[in-house]
Amino acid sequence: MTTSSSPASSSSLTAVRVELGPRSYDVLVGPGAGSELADMLPSSARQAFVVTQAGIGVATGLETRLRTTIVELPAGERTKSLATVEGLCRQFAEVGLTRHDVVVAVGGGVVTDVTGFAASCWHRGTGVIHVATTLLAQIDAAIGGKTGVNLPEGKNLVGSFWQPLGVICDTDMLATLPPAEWRSGRGELAKYAFLGVEDLDALDLVEQVARCVACKARIVSSDETEGSSRMILNYGHTLAHALEAAGFAGEPDAPGHLAASDGPVPLRHGEAVAIGLVFAARLARDLGRIDADRVRRHEELVARYELPGLLPSDADPERLVQLMTRDKKSQGDLTFVLDGPGGVEVVRGVPHEPVLAVLEGLRD
Ligand SMILES: NC(=O)c1ccc[n+]([C@@H]2O[C@H](COP(=O)([O-])OP(=O)(O)OC[C@H]3O[C@@H](n4cnc5c(N)ncnc54)[C@H](O)[C@@H]3O)[C@@H](O)[C@H]2O)c1
Ligand SMILES: [Zn+2]
Repeated sequence: MTTSSSPASSSSLTAVRVELGPRSYDVLVGPGAGSELADMLPSSARQAFVVTQAGIGVATGLETRLRTTIVELPAGERTKSLATVEGLCRQFAEVGLTRHDVVVAVGGGVVTDVTGFAASCWHRGTGVIHVATTLLAQIDAAIGGKTGVNLPEGKNLVGSFWQPLGVICDTDMLATLPPAEWRSGRGELAKYAFLGVEDLDALDLVEQVARCVACKARIVSSDETEGSSRMILNYGHTLAHALEAAGFAGEPDAPGHLAASDGPVPLRHGEAVAIGLVFAARLARDLGRIDADRVRRHEELVARYELPGLLPSDADPERLVQLMTRDKKSQGDLTFVLDGPGGVEVVRGVPHEPVLAVLEGLRD
């Protein structure tokens, strides 16, 4: 067993090991990585249950090897629901899926989150392989074993840690990704630039994905269930989650969200993260943790990735502070992941005033 989470090249593919003892697995990165899927199947599997979405158009070819059922979920964050999990589990029952079989999620973070959660519950845990088809899923969502669904009360409130058997990040599969989804993925890419992945801009896409995967693998290996150090993966996310909870995020076509004709186009997750990164950098500066130059690097990267760095014009700073107090990391106070002389770390007990001041300064 390989013991490192640094990328190891084999042919044109890079295998990144997520080292978690008996739950360790490989993330295969590169063009054509999808052809390795069959090799990840557990030998016990007699059938595969593939979950995907209509617009993705990725065929696994598994049906030539074993009995395969393919289902398509609707697009959009609303698909991450307990109702979807129930629907999937009932279909697992219909085809007689057992815990020796395998579930395969082919899609972005919505598909991998909800399918991973269904697999984690099915017969108290059935193996799942993620074939990540968005930039965001390849560098983030599909790796690390966090699965879950939303409730009307909030995002990702019900979930489990369920590590996949393996992850495929086939960069060829990104060819059909719409521009808005590229932009969203770049929000997470920008996050990694401040978590120690250096010179991202000098790398080609395959290298960028491989380096981010290696960074996430390293962090997850050291703190699988987010007791402490894994929280740094939430860099930029405290404000992003508050913006999402305040209704600024979503899909343009989702009812109940801001429609394009009523005002601004809703923010995609990565766009909210980009605003969160600029916010976190300015807050860190105001708390004396980093200098102006480091803040400029945040702002420049976000701008270069064509991401927003300012709050939507109708955002209410007081409301955002309120929502950030309810963040999952928080213990009733204001807790942020902030850059500093020793790198990005969790900072608790931040007073309200500087937070409000930075938010005021970020208004469009
Ligand atoms: N589990 C984790 O650690 C983790 C981390 C980050 C984000 N997430 C979750 O990920 C979700 C967001 O994921 P996302 O940004 O991938 O969005 P998404 O899964 O909604 O995908 C975006 C859209 O792109 C389409 N699509 C996917 N692949 C495509 C392809 N190759 N070509 C054309 N269209 C394609 C999808 O059908 C969808 O309509 C959120 O729910 C978030 O909470 C989870
Ligand atoms: Zn994120």
